[in-house]
Amino acid sequence: MVTGVRRAARLVGTALGLAALISMAGLAAAQAPWTAPAGEKEKKNPLPADAKTIEQGRKVAQINCVTCHGAKGKGDGAAAVALNPKPADWTSKTVQDDSDGELFWKITTGRGAMPAWRHLPESDRWALVRYIRTLAAK
Ligand code: HEC
Repeated sequence: MVTGVRRAARLVGTALGLAALISMAGLAAAQAPWTAPAGEKEKKNPLPADAKTIEQGRKVAQINCVTCHGAKGKGDGAAAVALNPKPADWTSKTVQDDSDGELFWKITTGRGAMPAWRHLPESDRWALVRYIRTLAAK
């Protein structure tokens, strides 16, 4: 009987230890910096930063991104509550410090809860980058 209890306790201990390890691994993955390969970072946006392009980007974002990133890109869309890590705040310095090529690559490839958008036409993805630039916190 006593041995049974001890064994159960040991099993629970092992299970807890494993759970802790797994969640730590999850956290480490979530916090790892997300950086594009050098060749991708250097890519230049082929679209001009004009009203037409920005409007194109805004429209694509309204359809595909606001549920997570929020209407103003602050990362506070309706689905954000359930997500960890949270959707990036497009107005933040972290996002704005990325080069156009890096944002384009992140949008294209995704990570974790952030979907890959490579099925969107390239011009839509570059237009999204132009639109995200207009949201920089002043
Ligand atoms: C299902 C929710 C969801 C949708 C929809 C979504 N995103 Fe994200 N996005 C995320 C999450 C979560 C992250 C943070 C990922 C991480 O850091 O691992 C993220 C991160 C990003 C980043 C990275 C910012 C950085 O520099 O680290 C960009 C850019 C981005 N999203 C753009 C977009 C665009 C553009 C769309 C629409 C075409 C979009 N996202 C749609 C959830 C979403």
